[in-house]
Amino acid sequence: MGALTSQHLEQLKSIVGEEHVYVDVETLERFSHDETENLRFLPEVVVKPGSPEEISAILKLCNQDLIPVTPRGAGTGLSGGALPHLGGVLLSTERLNRILTIDERNLQVTTEPGVITEVLQNAVKEKKLFYPPDPSSRGSCFIGGNVAENSGGPKAVKYGVVKDYVLNLEVVLPTGEIIWTGSNVIKNVTGYNLTQLIVGSEGTLGIVTKIVLKLIPLPTHDLLMLVPFKNLEQAGEAVSAIFRAGFTPSALELMEIDALRIVSEMVDNTAVPITDDTAAHLIIEVDGNDPEVLMRDMEAIGNLLTQYDIGEIYFAEDATQKDRLWKLRRRAAEAVKLVGYTIEEDTVVPRAELPALIRELKALGKKHGVDVVCYGHAGDGNLHVRLRKEGMPNSYGNPTIEKILNELFEIVYKLGGTISAEHGIGLIQKGFMPIVFQEKSLELMRSIKKVFDPNNILNAGKVI
Ligand code: LAC
Ligand code: ZN
Repeated sequence: MGALTSQHLEQLKSIVGEEHVYVDVETLERFSHDETENLRFLPEVVVKPGSPEEISAILKLCNQDLIPVTPRGAGTGLSGGALPHLGGVLLSTERLNRILTIDERNLQVTTEPGVITEVLQNAVKEKKLFYPPDPSSRGSCFIGGNVAENSGGPKAVKYGVVKDYVLNLEVVLPTGEIIWTGSNVIKNVTGYNLTQLIVGSEGTLGIVTKIVLKLIPLPTHDLLMLVPFKNLEQAGEAVSAIFRAGFTPSALELMEIDALRIVSEMVDNTAVPITDDTAAHLIIEVDGNDPEVLMRDMEAIGNLLTQYDIGEIYFAEDATQKDRLWKLRRRAAEAVKLVGYTIEEDTVVPRAELPALIRELKALGKKHGVDVVCYGHAGDGNLHVRLRKEGMPNSYGNPTIEKILNELFEIVYKLGGTISAEHGIGLIQKGFMPIVFQEKSLELMRSIKKVFDPNNILNAGKVI
């Protein structure tokens, strides 16, 4: 890797304008971390370009002089994808923040990457359109970061994840060329699928500068209920029973009681009474256009669940109650992190293996003396697992934690699952890739990286 010199700083200033190049300690510090554990790496300079052409010029310069570039959206990532662990240039997409067109004839939106996901969702909602992927951080994360991570969220269980909505991308390659990956069409088998190769590539293959997303009609109604379970494993069992009985909820989330207790305290919200005999809750939402059908579905799901050891089911009566419930779920990660559960894993198994995963997780925690708390997208078999061990705030580079995580991922793999569902591999999970991939598969990935980024300047050392 090359060193960043004062001459480079001058060149960067001439590309983006002096006011968009930052070397002050405060800014460098602000961009030294994302939401991943307690990790911090200072970039040498923060650059905020305003167009694809400026990004192209920056990448050409850095590619020529082998300067590491770390792209960054809003910095809400949980696997360290936006951490500038090699120093160099931190490239923020925050100025590319315009929604360019909402095509109501074709149900599509074209946007720049620095738009906050919820802002985009609300803009299309005004036109009765729906962009479903809704990571917990949707009020602050960028749509570009969602594309980079192929994010999910609660609605994924019915509506799919980001990849299911991305039709076409404008991308600046590490060598500076600007390309479009596909067409603005729903069906497309024209050549290799470059669009889907970029989705989820975590900013290692190029920097996305325009995104064309498919939209769907906005459902007019939804219902939400919360079901307390006395036994955590039974909550896991109930999840697959709901699908087997013929229902597809628009959200099916699990929250272990400790997570709920912690987040309730943090947001000072007593929407859910916490009783001593409750081990976990399922949050179940259905949506559609016919309220009577939805009510019938909810009743049928409620009846189905009486075969388990459950407490009294709580129905959210109105929008305010729904919001309060969702707030408890959405802020869980933030809340448990504040009380020392800094290490978050993003396990996923085939849905029916959820009870086995829960059982083995708890046993693993006990064996190693680690506090374990779970919550997440149970309907997808996707469980976020947070760990807390005194004096060990980070997993990255910590042999004790890495050993525990190795065991955790071996369990996940044995159950037919994998090590990340929606948070990505980034910096902190890449050491575990050999658990779930053959060497030949990793070699293919390394070769793809080389084709896009021959000098390994863009988000180097991430994913593979
Ligand atoms: C969540 C984030 C952490 O589900 O993925 O809350
Ligand atoms: Zn999640």
